[in-house]
Amino acid sequence: MKLSTGLRVALGLVQLAPWVDAAPSSASESTLSTLSSAPSSAPPVSSVFTSVASTPSSAVSSAVPITSSPSLSTLSSGVSSVPASTVTSAVSSVVSSAASSLASSSALTSLSTIASISNSLTSASASSLTSVNASLSTSSVVASTGSPTFNTGTGTETGIITIPIAPVSFTPFPVPSDSPISGVFVETDPSSPPSPEQAPALGGPVPDFGKAWSAAHSKARAKVAQLSLEQKVNLTTGVGWEGGRCVGNIPTVGDFPGLCLEDSPLGVRDTDFVTAFPTGITAAATWNRTLIRLRGLFMGQEHKAKGVNVALGPMMNMGRIAQGGRNWEGFGADPFLSGEAAYETILGMQSGGIQACAKHYINNEQEHKRTQESSNVDDRTQHEIYAHPFMRSVQAGVASIMCSYNLVNDTYACDNNKTLNDILKREFGFQGYVMSDWSAQHDTMSAVAGLDMTMPGDITFNSGTSWFGQNLTDFVLNGTIAASRVDDMATRILASWYLLKQDSASYPTVNFNAFFPLDESTNEHVDVQDDHFTVVREIGAAGAVLLKNDGVLPLVKPRSIVVVGNDSGPSVYGPNGFSDRGGDDGILAMGWGSGTAQFPYLIDPLSAIQTRAIKDHTSVSWWRSNWELPGVASVVQQQSAAIVFVNADSGEDYITVDGNEGDRKNLTLWGNADQLITTVANNNNNTIVVAHSVGPAIVEAWIEHPNVTALIWAGVPGQEAGNSIVDVLYGDYNPSGRLPYTIAKSPSDYSAQLITGGGPNDILSIPYTEGLLIDYRHFDANNIEPRFEFGFGLSYTEFQYFNLKTSTVPQSDSDSAALEKAWAAGKATPIAEGSTTAAWLHRPLVKVTFQVQNTGGVAGSEIPQLYIHHPASAGEPPSVLKGFTDVRLAKGQTKTVTLALSRYDLSIWDTVAQGWVKPSGKITFSVGASSRDFRLSGTIPV
Ligand code: NOJ
Repeated sequence: MKLSTGLRVALGLVQLAPWVDAAPSSASESTLSTLSSAPSSAPPVSSVFTSVASTPSSAVSSAVPITSSPSLSTLSSGVSSVPASTVTSAVSSVVSSAASSLASSSALTSLSTIASISNSLTSASASSLTSVNASLSTSSVVASTGSPTFNTGTGTETGIITIPIAPVSFTPFPVPSDSPISGVFVETDPSSPPSPEQAPALGGPVPDFGKAWSAAHSKARAKVAQLSLEQKVNLTTGVGWEGGRCVGNIPTVGDFPGLCLEDSPLGVRDTDFVTAFPTGITAAATWNRTLIRLRGLFMGQEHKAKGVNVALGPMMNMGRIAQGGRNWEGFGADPFLSGEAAYETILGMQSGGIQACAKHYINNEQEHKRTQESSNVDDRTQHEIYAHPFMRSVQAGVASIMCSYNLVNDTYACDNNKTLNDILKREFGFQGYVMSDWSAQHDTMSAVAGLDMTMPGDITFNSGTSWFGQNLTDFVLNGTIAASRVDDMATRILASWYLLKQDSASYPTVNFNAFFPLDESTNEHVDVQDDHFTVVREIGAAGAVLLKNDGVLPLVKPRSIVVVGNDSGPSVYGPNGFSDRGGDDGILAMGWGSGTAQFPYLIDPLSAIQTRAIKDHTSVSWWRSNWELPGVASVVQQQSAAIVFVNADSGEDYITVDGNEGDRKNLTLWGNADQLITTVANNNNNTIVVAHSVGPAIVEAWIEHPNVTALIWAGVPGQEAGNSIVDVLYGDYNPSGRLPYTIAKSPSDYSAQLITGGGPNDILSIPYTEGLLIDYRHFDANNIEPRFEFGFGLSYTEFQYFNLKTSTVPQSDSDSAALEKAWAAGKATPIAEGSTTAAWLHRPLVKVTFQVQNTGGVAGSEIPQLYIHHPASAGEPPSVLKGFTDVRLAKGQTKTVTLALSRYDLSIWDTVAQGWVKPSGKITFSVGASSRDFRLSGTIPV
């Protein structure tokens, strides 16, 4: 079986390849030496940045003229030098979080902090703050909560005010439990996580990284105690764009060697001899935990062997809008599926020795105006949909999280006290560090809102200025920011390094140069690929979704095949001909932007089909042009099968391809695809369509054409694209992929659309008014018939479901008996550190078992899915995915499947109580083969 090596590695049964422990090279240190912070030998990195702030008022106003910041320059007029982000966003954040969580003490304390910030603003900001201070007249309430007693007055205070570490209380160790429960809540180190078969959703234990974090934080604290303020600040401040060999670099500080941060979520970007893995969306389409884990593990190993410390992935923004340019980097349109994929990816990556980075936190669901748009999201939707995959990342022990470019409820995501301090660090108990997306920071005070590291370090690329660096030092020296906050930032960064054992002397040093890959002196061309192509090929096949099959697949020794379409063959420019893959020519195996890697090679379908044809003596012809339709009409006639390859591409906003500015401008397949397919189908009665698509596309023009006999949605599968699709076409891999999103009949059927427009001075509002009703939840709630529903996918065999049983899991320990009782009585979970990740909330409560039998003619894998249906009082969508697994079955074989539900799985977010609550009434569930193909149903016994 192809997975044998990978599985053995995953299970720790084989040694890592020799290069994993390669001797360190000193090259990277010399590259960065000029920016070293060692006080005796070189100026601190912070000194390379301009210092302009020395008083609290100027500090909060701006470190550099606002016009230096590209995304903010447009906001400066009329606000003098006050950063619009700080003022307006602080205001809106307070108002919105207060509105959504009035009963929350944390929300009240946030008010006090923001009041303090606002009080220290210059007079230029006073008028814009009038309404703020009016809305902040809760100061007496704040004082009565016993929160830090900093000024919360009416705007008259002008003296120096020390901003505390955070307005919400949390320690570095808000672990969910300090007493592991055997078989339920197990002490875990990132290097040896529980296997994918032991996922909590399958009834396995909840991993407890608390002790590992605690040990790492102890080491970090000891180290930080030896550092000067400048050195601590240097740990938080990237060396600036192109200041080191990686896309992001933290300098050496004393004997700490610094950090290399490198893209991407599908492999090591900007270097050679690496594997170009399948995209996130294709990994998600496998619904296969083992494959997702292995992908993560192998990516982690490759990053480490290249000397990277922090791999900038996974990415798990939701496929809220079908057009979202970066959807293919992520895991689809359902939070549960995204969360499980993020969890497995991170466990895999970090067991490979790398620090993972969960991104982009949060609500970065479209590319258009991503630095100047406010995603306006209600508190319940935020918790249940968008924050969930990040919560699962924290549960996987993720080392770092990247805050996003956009604003959230009118506050920049990297400046957002509610999302960073309150949700991430307090509710989720996140113990690693938050880094900014590249230039997504807008002021020094974001340190107080929860930002720990600025990337790439300079305010604008190569500006020589930084919001941290010397400014952060000055803010501490003048008392604006508490020194303990910088201690906490530095500690979190070093703790993550220790957590992943990157302090080991054998940890590889950086051996490539992301900015100058052709510079021989800084590129060692280390081959880190091992045999990872095997799992690429398997995921490419397992992530292909068979959507239609009139009995024509799998192919059995066809006499002749005509292969049609530009997507079927290689690009004339080669696999890496477009910078950051920003072009669409030939087989589409990844989207464009920073979420890419160099292809070491790229197997196209036509080559793979020809290789296969040798065996069967099949004659193969082709027509690659999508536009010369008369030629197509002629060449496809009389062929046993016409296989048409089409695609749809998208990417990151800094590249525009064919008028698509990152996001797709429409949902049609590219390159005249509809006409091409129709022409083929009009001339060949066995037209098989293969779509390599970054997301949903509308297929109505031809899907019901009687001659379109099959459709495979083949995702964006990485370097083995051709081999993967051949495996599926010929039945060497019985398709088991399932759609990670809905394919609609019309773009307007989706509940949310790309928002365009907005002038250069505008902050574009993106109202998430559909709330919980994204993707299938909306189709179900509004009785809209999709073309292919979420979770759908065919097989070459058939499966029957039977013998459903439910049971509650005995809870013999008494650690959290009172909490569990309160939950059962309908009380919300308490407001506390780590309250959302608490073990008692996530341990299996209900087990659902059933049997699945392969009743068809060949072996195959089924993906049973569990959807719960809340009582009407809960205000939930009709069906919500809460469980899935993959079951491999030989012909005729039956297996028993177990899925587990926790209290968290059954809960909804109570915005008033600010906790998770069991809705009152009967919760039912269905088990089946898609979000609309339910085979068994039952009632949750709680
Ligand atoms: C910006 C992208 O949004 C992010 O995903 C990436 O990691 C950084 N650039 C670094 O390339």
